[in-house]
Amino acid sequence: MTAPLLTVEDLVVDYRLHRKLNLRALKGVSLSVGAGECVGLVGESGSGKSTLGKAVLGLAAVTSGRITFAGEDITHARGAARRRLASDIQVVFQDPYGSLDPTMTVGEVLAEPLVAAGSRQARAVVAEMLDHVRLPADSVHRYPSEFSGGQRQRIAIARALVRRPRLIVCDEPVSALDLTTQATVLDLFLDLQRETGVSYLFVSHDLGVVRRLCHRVSVMYQGEIVESGDARTVTSDPDHPYTRRLLLAAPVADPTRQAERRAAWLTLREA
Ligand SMILES: Nc1ncnc2c1ncn2[C@@H]1O[C@H](COP(=O)(O)OP(=O)(O)OP(=O)(O)O)[C@@H](O)[C@H]1O
Ligand SMILES: [Mg+2]
Repeated sequence: MTAPLLTVEDLVVDYRLHRKLNLRALKGVSLSVGAGECVGLVGESGSGKSTLGKAVLGLAAVTSGRITFAGEDITHARGAARRRLASDIQVVFQDPYGSLDPTMTVGEVLAEPLVAAGSRQARAVVAEMLDHVRLPADSVHRYPSEFSGGQRQRIAIARALVRRPRLIVCDEPVSALDLTTQATVLDLFLDLQRETGVSYLFVSHDLGVVRRLCHRVSVMYQGEIVESGDARTVTSDPDHPYTRRLLLAAPVADPTRQAERRAAWLTLREA
């Protein structure tokens, strides 16, 4: 078996609140993401999902533990080493409105990282990326405000893809979208993985989303991973009581099933 693309070992991250007060957001978290794999990270609000994503991106300082990418220790990568990683590790955030500069056309947004990387074929690559994310070629002349939420999220995905990364950290990338648009964007993530072999570390609080997209999933609870495994198993027949509660708390369309689940959830909560 080949070594995973990303390995996180026993990672601890503290946020400094006051001079002598720290908040331990990650308490020794370990996981791995293989090439071409999608690993989901689920858990309630505040459990540390985004913190793990930020640590991988170099946006949160690591107290202890190790992050390895393609065999290289990147735990404390800064400056030039971090900039070099930017072409390999990209990110898509939840908010398709806040994450795009409204004063730049889509063409400029997409070409920007290419200019920084010294690419001469920016225009051809931009056209190719728009095609990848199923946006019309004339989008290059338009501004982000002229697009719908789902289209903007596809622009953000194109921007992440433009440097041909090997890993994309996706932090709740479909949570702000309505269900139909969510389905379209999730299909896009699946297609892009098939076409490019990119890996995803996919943060979500939605077990249904994770089941659809991910090969494996880890469940976080208060800064720790309480359960990991095959996505289908964890999201349909979880071992850990916390995951069971998370699963039962997720809404379902059928009112009868919803009532049954609600009863089961209450039983679990009282247990
Ligand atoms: N910059 C920060 N400074 C201090 N504390 C922070 C900071 N960012 C996050 N935290 C705290 O760290 C913990 C983990 O936060 P994190 O954002 O990783 O959770 P999350 O699982 O992504 O939650 P959500 O589902 O709401 O996005 C929380 O208790 C949060 O309040
Ligand atoms: Mg978060």
